[in-house]
Amino acid sequence: MTIATAEHIINAGFDEHRAEQFAERMVDMLNAGCTALMISIGHRTGLFDTLAAMAPATSEEIASRAGLNERYVREWLGAMTVSDIIRHTPETATYQLPSEHAISLSRTSPADNIAVFAQYIPLLGAVEDQIVHCFRHGGGVPYESFHRFHEVMAEDSGQSVVAALDTHILPLVPGLTDRLEQGIRVLDVGCGRGKALNCLAGLYPASRFVGYDFSREAVDYARREASEQGHHNATFQVRDAATLGEGNERGTFDLITTFDAIHDQKDPLAVLRGIRAALADDGVYLAQDIKGSSHHHGDRDHPIGPMLYTVSCMHCMTVSLAQGGEGLGAMWGKERALDYFSKAGFGTVEVNELAHDFQNYWYVCRP
Ligand SMILES: C[S@@+](CC[C@H](N)C(=O)[O-])C[C@H]1O[C@@H](n2cnc3c(N)ncnc32)[C@H](O)[C@@H]1O
Repeated sequence: MTIATAEHIINAGFDEHRAEQFAERMVDMLNAGCTALMISIGHRTGLFDTLAAMAPATSEEIASRAGLNERYVREWLGAMTVSDIIRHTPETATYQLPSEHAISLSRTSPADNIAVFAQYIPLLGAVEDQIVHCFRHGGGVPYESFHRFHEVMAEDSGQSVVAALDTHILPLVPGLTDRLEQGIRVLDVGCGRGKALNCLAGLYPASRFVGYDFSREAVDYARREASEQGHHNATFQVRDAATLGEGNERGTFDLITTFDAIHDQKDPLAVLRGIRAALADDGVYLAQDIKGSSHHHGDRDHPIGPMLYTVSCMHCMTVSLAQGGEGLGAMWGKERALDYFSKAGFGTVEVNELAHDFQNYWYVCRP
């Protein structure tokens, strides 16, 4: 690789070897970015699932089984072959997804499917023009501009939250499952498509569950699923979380949850104060939020730091700024989160980490 060496750079102690290594790393990133796009397509078209269930097969056989256009499938198989994701045997013109790879890429593994997260890359890329405009002029990109956001988010939290609710998340609060079995009042703020709440409503029929979200599309979906699954104890409302805890809603709920729903608020502290006000005096607030430090240097070893800062800049921060909000962003970090919980009036806050989940902190907050 040729490196441009301007005189002033050489004079500053230019290390040619380091420059070449860095350039190679940049090329690797281009390849990885393009591969991520193709992984997203493989997920959405069901190609990984098709391949996971097939013996080595030709592009015609794979396209036919998946119900897709062979020419596109063949080109995609090429991209997967050169990315070392799919094994290609030229002698038989066949392709195979090794089972060790299928675990990370197909729906056969509902809690570990990394292909789900690859969808964020095209989802964010679709608003790049608007984000560039914001870099120049300020402001933000509103929630409505993110085509497929609620669909992808529900798949994401379906893995990180719903799949672990009963086994790992509820046990973070001692005695909570007993109370849920006896019957308590539960609110999920920023419930999105309502997957977590509908799951809880099915597990604990004696408790009553309410979900608030300001997206009509998400709430309609949650209501539809509650009805299809027969959860008469779950209701969903189109509601701005900024109005929480007012009037006769004070002290109403025994358990309030937010799953990834504070840092992108217009006014996160006001929402936290509303949650505190809506919580009964012996209630618990369980908050899942992105794991991170409140300082960039503290996140240098974060296993998915680049992804989280990108999602923060191109979604979480900008949707808040679009409302004239604080623009806190996903990487607000533990130190700032603890400060906000305290300012909102929570007396004790425990910070938990779950072994299966390197993306989140689980805060247990009590009045
Ligand atoms: C990152 S998503 C998380 C969704 C869901 N909790 C999950 O884990 O799948 C944040 C959610 O908060 C909702 N939201 C953001 N600001 C809100 C507000 N002020 N009032 C109500 N909902 C809000 C968004 O519509 C979105 O569904």
